[in-house]
Amino acid sequence: MQDLLTLNRMESGVVKFNLEVFDLRALLAEVIEELEQKAEKRDVLIRFYVDKNQSFFTKADREKIFRVCQNLISNAIKYNHEGGEVEVSLKAQKNRLHVSVKDNGKGIPAEDLKRIFERFYRVEKSRNREAGGTGLGLAIVKHILEGHKSKISVSSTVGKGSLFSFSLPAAEVKSGAKALSL
Ligand SMILES: Nc1ncnc2c1ncn2[C@@H]1O[C@H](COP(=O)(O)OP(=O)(O)OP(=O)(O)O)[C@@H](O)[C@H]1O
Ligand SMILES: [Mg+2]
Repeated sequence: MQDLLTLNRMESGVVKFNLEVFDLRALLAEVIEELEQKAEKRDVLIRFYVDKNQSFFTKADREKIFRVCQNLISNAIKYNHEGGEVEVSLKAQKNRLHVSVKDNGKGIPAEDLKRIFERFYRVEKSRNREAGGTGLGLAIVKHILEGHKSKISVSSTVGKGSLFSFSLPAAEVKSGAKALSL
């Protein structure tokens, strides 16, 4: 219910984007930590690939990007199989920071792929009834990224898994701030 309200408010343009400079690596670590329990329950292993020596500051709406990462990683756990894996990776390339979330779960049939970002769209309504989603997560993800002039990409193979990715601008870090990014 909350999700639908959020989405409606975003679509009507009422929701403001509050841009701030923050460490995307720290944000991802936080999201992963929060979802670790959920993953353990499903015997899914989350790996986080990131270059320790690099800075990953971006300028974006931190709270909303948190939501994006939460939705993507939570899907990767939910639509995985017992003993599955989720690979979250963060890379810097030119002036962009690239985030990808890869799972080796059930995958998404090609004919559904272009529709999963629509509100309430769920692949095989009955297949994941126990998971109990409403089909709003990816619609919210898409909307938030569009608000950042970015977009979500997906590729998937049934039986092999899915890969979702997006990028955000790399932010200039003023001297001093870097020391905080340990
Ligand atoms: N990583 C994934 N692997 C396989 N299928 C996926 C994956 N991510 C999303 N899907 C499919 O896309 C549909 C839409 O995803 P979305 O996150 O929008 O909704 P949801 O997870 O069902 O519900 P909600 O996120 O609102 O709790 C899902 O129901 C699922 O069928
Ligand atoms: Mg979801």
